[in-house]
Amino acid sequence: MIHRAKGIYSRQARVNTPEGTYEEGFGRQGFAGPQAVLYRRHRTTDWTRIEGPLRPRAFRTDDITSDDATRSEGLPVELLYNDDVRISVSRRQDSMPFFFRNADGDELHFIHQGQGQLECDFGVLAVEPGDYVLIPKGTNYRFVYTTAENFSLILESRAPLGFPDRGLIGQHAPFDFTLLETPEPAPVPESDGEEWELRIKRGSQYTSVFYDFNPMDVVGWHGSLSVVKLNVRDFRILMSDRIHLPPSAHTTFAASGVAVCTFTPRPAEGDPTTNRTPMYHRNIDYDEVFFTHSAGAGLRPEGILTLNPAGLHHGPLPGVIEASRANWTKDARLEFTAINIDTERPLEMTEAAMGLEIPDYYTKWIPESSAATL
Ligand SMILES: [Fe+2]
Repeated sequence: MIHRAKGIYSRQARVNTPEGTYEEGFGRQGFAGPQAVLYRRHRTTDWTRIEGPLRPRAFRTDDITSDDATRSEGLPVELLYNDDVRISVSRRQDSMPFFFRNADGDELHFIHQGQGQLECDFGVLAVEPGDYVLIPKGTNYRFVYTTAENFSLILESRAPLGFPDRGLIGQHAPFDFTLLETPEPAPVPESDGEEWELRIKRGSQYTSVFYDFNPMDVVGWHGSLSVVKLNVRDFRILMSDRIHLPPSAHTTFAASGVAVCTFTPRPAEGDPTTNRTPMYHRNIDYDEVFFTHSAGAGLRPEGILTLNPAGLHHGPLPGVIEASRANWTKDARLEFTAINIDTERPLEMTEAAMGLEIPDYYTKWIPESSAATL
């Protein structure tokens, strides 16, 4: 479609927003498809009330008591799901006594808390906070922890998860693929009669296969399919001094129906005419899940998981844009680390998620409201 401009607007989006207006991003395919910017007199999140299921939601993941937190035989707790993905949390207090194989999809584990190692078909891989561990569908694995406080956010994707095309950016940003780590074969000695369980998930049903040997018996491997690991500290986040880039600029993993973005510490935009806050938008094609790994000043606390459903507006809370302008300093930085999971199909909440929800979170956007707190 031909690009048009009408009425009161700025010729450069995100910059020099006309006085008395709020920018709204209105676009398809996240920020990648056709886009318009609407200049409005009101924040579209200034609702007085909402009837129906769409609303911004927030969950206190610190309150999760997952099945695997209370018993070593247990499994992570599922929070959100659709036909493409399932999002779970593991809060295991000790190591897995069984091996696990997900035959429903790839798994991406984000290690929020905890230290130890992953034992898998490809060998052993140390894990620590800030690690993404991508486990291909069908891999046998278990986590062995050296810490008691462990917390992983797990994304299961039916379609294979990979890295997005980097196009004109080139191969070395936001991280060099040479930084990806793969496990080292570490076959265990022959078993002494112990029984080993391999638990397989297929169609969300579980089957246990038992062996009289430890299935960690691979002595070597080669190929283009393996567990890979990447730590957020190795990210060199893309940024611009003169424009606030959309979240899609930080896409780290992608599959049909889902994308994962990573936000790591960075300087704020340095041009004083540039908006440092995100636009209001209704993200027509994606539900957005946001998880705070480490909080910086002004960001929601660590461990809070939010869900902004497609179709409903979201954006800065009342006063945030004004405060960003009033408190502008040249050398401001954003120190938080967070991950964003965007899904094409609507996400459903499990009963466990409903039990963790912060009531009336959506009322935070009602001006003068203090009904909801984090
Ligand atoms: Fe968004």
